[in-house]
Parts: sequence; structure tokens; C-alpha cells
Amino acid sequence: MSHQDYLNLLKAEVDRIDQAGSSKRQEKIILGFTDENPPRAVIDDRKYYVFNSNDYLGLKYNADLKEAEHEASKKYGAGPGAVRFISGSLKVHRDLEQAVARFHGRDDAILYSSAFAANLGTIFPLIVGQAKTSLVRDNVLVISDELNHRSIIDSIRLANLAKENRAIFKHLDLDHLETILKEAASKYDRAVVITDGVFSMLGELQDLKRLHALKEKYDQEFKHGILTIVDDAHGVGAIGETGRGTEEDAGERADVLIGTFGKAFGSDGGYVAAGQTVIDYLRESSATYIYSNPIPPSTAGAALAALELMDTDEGRELTGKLADNIRYFKEKAKAAHIPFAADSRHPVQPVLIGDTLKTKQLVGELFTEGFLTTAISYPVVPPGRDEIRVQINAVHTPESIDLLIGALAKNIT
Ligand SMILES: Cc1ncc(COP(=O)(O)O)c(C=O)c1O
Repeated sequence: MSHQDYLNLLKAEVDRIDQAGSSKRQEKIILGFTDENPPRAVIDDRKYYVFNSNDYLGLKYNADLKEAEHEASKKYGAGPGAVRFISGSLKVHRDLEQAVARFHGRDDAILYSSAFAANLGTIFPLIVGQAKTSLVRDNVLVISDELNHRSIIDSIRLANLAKENRAIFKHLDLDHLETILKEAASKYDRAVVITDGVFSMLGELQDLKRLHALKEKYDQEFKHGILTIVDDAHGVGAIGETGRGTEEDAGERADVLIGTFGKAFGSDGGYVAAGQTVIDYLRESSATYIYSNPIPPSTAGAALAALELMDTDEGRELTGKLADNIRYFKEKAKAAHIPFAADSRHPVQPVLIGDTLKTKQLVGELFTEGFLTTAISYPVVPPGRDEIRVQINAVHTPESIDLLIGALAKNIT
């Protein structure tokens, strides 16, 4: 086969994706955001209400974050210059790690370039020892929710475990998880349970209270106990009275918490918060920490400003505004007979359409009317559960929500 034959295969694969209607690369290029309330995205020569952003608190527009970003780059330069253990550990990185640890009530935290990188860098060494010389090797069973985020799935794949060392529990079905734990007890040295805190397609929350109870109940059955890892990328900042995420909502903690600054915290980068031993071990074994640059100082400065803001009156006002907007959207959508794909308390509000082409077409019609929303189809959701994913933010006004409801009602009902 010639190189051209190989390129033809790549082209055929892209064509197949295009024909299935699930291609993603025709991205809408945003030229900027207006400074009106709510800010609107400028695409070509039109303005669009943004109802598909993970910036749940509207912090990416916040003046304090932008100022902190500017100050940090003035002080440290535009980039980190090296990985952490060479010369890329700047005080703003360490200040941010300590702020994350305080925010989530943990001993310490460690930064990554994204939550995807945090998962890759954390799950692999916590499942298997990183190097051949590692002392951390035991007969582990990794148990994962079937709809976990791609970064978790790939992290488990990377570990290349034998089939008997991997299990999947039905989505949100902790009875099923309990059955797996019961059967695994005394057969394995250790169990690791990994789950999203919030499943972002439908805005569903994993039951962390029950997860914690299961850990307590079965921990003693394993020589090395049970480790719980929760990726709360969509929960932190967006869930819980003070924005501490799904853990705050449940009133229970995971052993290892993964979060991102790239969604509700308006900046970028991922983090892990945990006890000191786990964080120390990750600094020694985590490939995406040791061999990859940290976030730039500007981004770390903005993330630090976001965390500092969370416990101020302004932060409380924003989390309150987000909760009010979610309530308002749901009330109005129900009154307008707009069908939900799930009853979500999260800013993700899924509108059920059920057909792939119709969902795409409706999202196109909403775009024509001046709204950015997202079409979600199989395999991200099961066949026949195609949805328009609406994401509510604190910066939305009741008037902008009313306009969206009007457009949804006109096109759907
Ligand atoms: C559960 C989960 N983990 C990780 C990520 C990736 O976050 P980041 O953009 O910080 O890599 C996402 C974002 O979609 C997510 O939903």
C-alpha cells in the first residue's frame, strides 16, 4: 500500500463521519464577544446569545480575572518556559495549588494542563505503578461508570489491564456497583472506583453519598481497600451552595477529586485535590505532570482569582444567580411544553428531540434565530435520545432566557 492509499483511507473515514451527520470540524469561528449583558458572540457579522458555554458563572468575562491574567504574565512571562521540575514551577502555580487544596478541604493539590491531562496523569499511576521499579503493584480491580468521560476511558485503556482487572457498572446504578464490589471482595487486593461527578450530556449527578457508603461498607474486604476517584469537571463552580461541586451537594468526599478551571472557573487547566501521600506520589509518577508543561502563569493567575472570588459576596451572588437562572429556565420551558431529556439540577438542560437529523436541523434553526446551542447525538447519548443541549450561565438575563424559550417553542412544539 502506498502512502497515497493510506491518505485515501483517511479521507474515506472522514467522508463516513460526514455522511453519518456527526462531523465536528465545521466549527463556528467566534470573532469576539460584545460587552453587553449578557455578552453575545460575534460570528461573521451577527451577534448570538451563547447557550452552549461551560463558563457557568460567566467568569471568563470577569475584569478581576483578566487583570490577574495580565499581572501574572507581566511578572512571570507569557509561558512557563519548562516543565515543573525543571524551571516551570512558578509561585503562582504553587499559590494556586494551595488555594485548590483549601477550597476543597484537602492536604494538597497538583496542577495539570487540562482535566483530560489530569485524568491521564492520575488514573494510570493510581492503577498501576509507573515504572518497572515501582513498589506500587497489586491485583487491582478498576470499576468505572459506563458513561464516564472519554478522558477516564482512555486513562484506563492506557493501563492495559487484563480483562479480569476491569469492570463497568451500569450508568448511575450503584446497586450494580455494589454487586460488583461484593463479588470482587477477597479476590482482589484493591478496588478503584472511578466516576464523573456530573455527566454533562444530561446534567445528571452521581450519588456520591451512596458511593461513600459503599466504600465504607466494603473497604475492609480488600487488602488495600477501595480508592474512589471523582472527576467533577462540570460540577466544580456549578454545583453546591458555594460551588464546591458534587461533593458539596452530597456532603461526602472522594479520595481523589479531579477538577478543571476551564469551565465554571472561567480560566483553563486541570487539577487534582487529595491527601498529601497521593499528591506526593503523583508528583513523582504522573507523566502529564512530569513531562508536560503546566498552564501558563497568566492562566494560573486567572484561575487563582476565580477561586479567591468564589468565597466573596460576588462569588455567592454568581452561584445564586446561576441557580435562579436554572430554576427560571425550567419553569418557563415546562410552561411552554418543551420536553426535557432528563430532570437536571445542573446548568446543562437537555431538550429531548429523539432524531439525529431533526436535532441538527433545529440547532441550525436556533442559530438562524441568533442562539448558539449544541446538538448531541449517538454515540454520546443512546440512539433515539438525541437532544439539544442548552447550558444556562449566570450572565444570562431573564429576557435572554425568554427569547430562547420562544425560539425553542416555535421550532419544537
Ligand atoms: C468529566 C470531564 N472530565 C474532563 C473533561 C475535560 O476537561 P478539560 O477541558 O479541562 O480537559 C471534561 C470536559 O468535557 C469532562 O466533562
